[in-house]
Amino acid sequence: MATNHKQLVTLTAATGHIASVAAELLLKKGLRVRAVGRSAARLGALKAKGAEPFEGSVDDASAMTKAFEGASSVFLLIPPNLAAADGRAYQNKVGEALAKAAKSAGVKHVVFLSSIGAHMKEGTGPITGLYDMEQRLNAMPLAVDHLRPVYFMENHLNGIGVIKGMGIFGSPMGPDHAFPQIATRDIGLVAAEKLAAGDKAKGQTVTELFGPKEYSMAESTKILGAAIGKPDLKYVQFPYDDAKKAMLGMGISPSVAGSFIEMYRAFNEGKVGSTQKPGPGNRGKTTLEEFAKTVFKPAFESKAPAAAH
Ligand SMILES: NC(=O)c1ccc[n+]([C@@H]2O[C@H](COP(=O)([O-])OP(=O)(O)OC[C@H]3O[C@@H](n4cnc5c(N)ncnc54)[C@H](OP(=O)(O)O)[C@@H]3O)[C@@H](O)[C@H]2O)c1
Repeated sequence: MATNHKQLVTLTAATGHIASVAAELLLKKGLRVRAVGRSAARLGALKAKGAEPFEGSVDDASAMTKAFEGASSVFLLIPPNLAAADGRAYQNKVGEALAKAAKSAGVKHVVFLSSIGAHMKEGTGPITGLYDMEQRLNAMPLAVDHLRPVYFMENHLNGIGVIKGMGIFGSPMGPDHAFPQIATRDIGLVAAEKLAAGDKAKGQTVTELFGPKEYSMAESTKILGAAIGKPDLKYVQFPYDDAKKAMLGMGISPSVAGSFIEMYRAFNEGKVGSTQKPGPGNRGKTTLEEFAKTVFKPAFESKAPAAAH
């Protein structure tokens, strides 16, 4: 059988916002890409572009071992499980399976999709599970690049239902505090760059990833509203209890809903700070205005989109 000597990169969450962008870029660079997801049908688009689809769940260590075998770099992401009875325990179950698989497959380099605030052990909701994973990976004998992006612009897509149903834009985030936001495409660009390093990657790095500028929710609402022909769209901050009730009504577990509220509170109280300064090297280029036109408007005009958390 012929051996394929091209550098292989395996990406978990390959159908997701970030890994799908990174996978395409790596294919364009001429690397081999193994794309992991739960459904062959959803992996079809990447397969058509030349990726090797790999069906498996990230909590299955033996499947992930096979997925990681032969890869010079692996992209790891802990996907949200909104129904988890204990959100952090679920994140740790997935984290342990991925770490075990990386060890069994002899992985030498990991790029981990973490989050801003992952230097803090407690008080930040779902970000605490990413803190746990960073620590787990740091204790392993491999090179690891932790990417810590700020608030995804894609989170705004979760508000489309409220705009359509109630004629307002809202979330538990306060209206006036400007905070950094990044388009997931810009995270994918950095992930691809780090993954391409393969065997040359050394040590442990942390890169906080910011957007081109900071926006408050009131400003964000103006920008998003203008893009969908609603320049007078109003922003309403939802009280934590109402937001939690709404999440429970959508089938989100009490643990995960409580954890999101803890995260919103931490953002509003300024507790999710950065440890690095934003600058040309760690700011995405996509502005919220551009995101509003190219992603938010088409999503608003088609259907209620999938959530990003
Ligand atoms: N939202 C934010 O502002 C923010 C900020 C910083 C960090 N983060 C972190 O970003 C990460 C995810 O972001 P996202 O929601 O945008 O995700 P995403 O990149 O869209 O990735 C989710 C993907 O994971 C796959 N997946 C889900 N469960 C799986 C399983 N059991 N086994 C294998 N694959 C599975 C899904 O693909 P299939 O359905 O095809 O299997 C889905 O496409 C989270 O760790 C979050 O904490 C988010």
